[in-house]
This record gives sequence, C-alpha cells and structure tokens, in this order.
Amino acid sequence: MSKKLALITGGTSGLGFACADKIAQEYDLALVYASNDDKAINAKKQIQVKNPECHVELYRKELKGYLLAKELYGEVCDQFAKAPSILINSAGKIRDGLFLNMDFSVQDQMIQEHLTTTLALTHLCLKEMYKDKFGRVINFSSVSAKYFKKGQVGYATVKSGIEGFTKCLAMEVAHRGITVNALAPGLIETPMTQDMVNNLREHKLLREKIPVGRAGTPEEIGDLVHYLCSERASYITGTVITIDGGRSLGDNSV
Ligand SMILES: NC(=O)c1ccc[n+]([C@@H]2O[C@H](COP(=O)([O-])OP(=O)(O)OC[C@H]3O[C@@H](n4cnc5c(N)ncnc54)[C@H](OP(=O)(O)O)[C@@H]3O)[C@@H](O)[C@H]2O)c1
Repeated sequence: MSKKLALITGGTSGLGFACADKIAQEYDLALVYASNDDKAINAKKQIQVKNPECHVELYRKELKGYLLAKELYGEVCDQFAKAPSILINSAGKIRDGLFLNMDFSVQDQMIQEHLTTTLALTHLCLKEMYKDKFGRVINFSSVSAKYFKKGQVGYATVKSGIEGFTKCLAMEVAHRGITVNALAPGLIETPMTQDMVNNLREHKLLREKIPVGRAGTPEEIGDLVHYLCSERASYITGTVITIDGGRSLGDNSV
C-alpha cells in the first residue's frame, strides 16, 4: 500500500516544519510556504537526509482565499497522484496593532490567510477523505483566542473562528473516520516569536509570564501532532488542545 500524503501549509518553518519533521517517517509530504525559498529548500533537505524514503515536494504559494487553495490542491494531487489524507493548516502571520489605527485591509488579509484558507483547503481535502473513510485535519489556533491582548483583534478573531470551525466540522465528519482538531499553543520559540522570546529572556520575564518558566519548543508541538495523525488518536475529535506551559491559566505575576 502506498504511503499516505500529508499537506502542511507553513510546513517549511516553525511549528509546521516541526510537524513535517515528526511525521516524515510515515507520510509523504507536500509543504507549502509563502516566499522564503532558501528556508524551504533547507527544510526539504533536512527532512530527506533523515528520511530518504519520504517523498517531499515544496509549493511556493502565498495562500489567501479559495482560488489559490484550489490551485494548490490540484497541483499537489497531480504531482503525487494521490490526495492528502492529512491536512495541517499552520500557515499565517501575526499583524498586531490597535484596531482603529490599522487599515482595514490588514484585517481582511488575516481573515483570508488564516481563516478562509483553512476552510477552503479543508473543504477541498474532505471529499477524498470522506471516500477513504480516513482523514486527519489539524488546525492552528492560539491561546490568543481566549486570553486576549490589546492590539490583537484580527488575530483573536481568526483564531476564534478556527476553533468554532474545528468543533462544528468534527461533528459532521466523525462517522467517516475523519477527525478534526485544533491546537492552541502559547509562546513557542519559532521565527515568528523569536524577538518576543529574546526580549522576555533578556528581562528574565519568562518565569513570571509562563508557569513552567520557559517558551515551548516546536518539537513539543510536533510530537502532539504526530500522535493526532495516527490511527491511535481516532477517538479524539473536535477538541482544542492548549499547549502553553500553563500560560492561559491566569496571571502568574501577582
Ligand atoms: N509560535 C507560536 O508561539 C505560536 C503560538 C500560537 C499560534 N501559532 C500559530 O502557529 C502557526 C505557525 O506559526 P509559526 O510560529 O510556526 O510561524 P513561522 O515560523 O513564521 O512559520 C510560518 C510558515 O507559514 C508560511 N506562510 C506564512 N504565510 C503564508 C501564506 N499566506 N501562504 C502560505 N504560507 C505562508 C511561512 O512561509 P515563509 O517562511 O516563506 O514566509 C512559513 O513557512 C500560525 O498559524 C500561528 O498563528 C504560533
């Protein structure tokens, strides 16, 4: 039987790459990125050195909305001659700023990039998963969907949307062996958060802000995703799993 295929948006950096790296032994990989070719080529090399049997392909596509998602899905299915059984929606950027001060196009961009793309790719992938009676959809939310900060209206909105989508869709497809889950990471050290982590480290604030006293590692996310992708995780669906070292439990500083 041929290997199952995992489609991972944002699969060349940070959390998406950690997921790819952890599942590469068992699945072929279609990794999507926005623009950083060097990083993408390096990610592919790293995976193939460790897993020579893994078929990895890179797709440079700045996803925003249904049409680009459809184009991507078509290219992936043609190139691998099979459809993805696993979809990991990790792509997206943070664009912080006070709601009133920001041009509305920035909010719109975040909605297209995080939310519409996640829904569109899932819609496209589900049809084959439905026929196969197996599928895994893993979406990236954030603790920012429930632990609010000024300046994150757009980000909190899209991540809350992803959580609602995850739970409601899980109910509709569970009977076909398809699970749909979301992860809500706290502060994980990736290129996206590097400046913030450095700043907190420099001011010795990590222990004050995060009960376990450190930022999380991408590998910790990858391990959880590896499990969620497996047959063993077939009873876990419609959940949002917080993985944040206790960050969202409350204010640790008083
Ligand atoms: N790190 C954290 O602490 C944290 C916490 C909570 C939630 N999250 C969520 O986890 C996800 C991954 O974050 P990360 O920290 O791994 O970020 P990252 O290291 O910056 O990686 C982002 C990846 O997504 C790609 N990408 C960005 N926009 C894209 C687009 N429009 N279309 C296609 N690819 C795109 C990037 O490609 P290029 O490299 O080419 O730009 C890169 O491969 C995000 O959804 C984020 O909101 C992260």
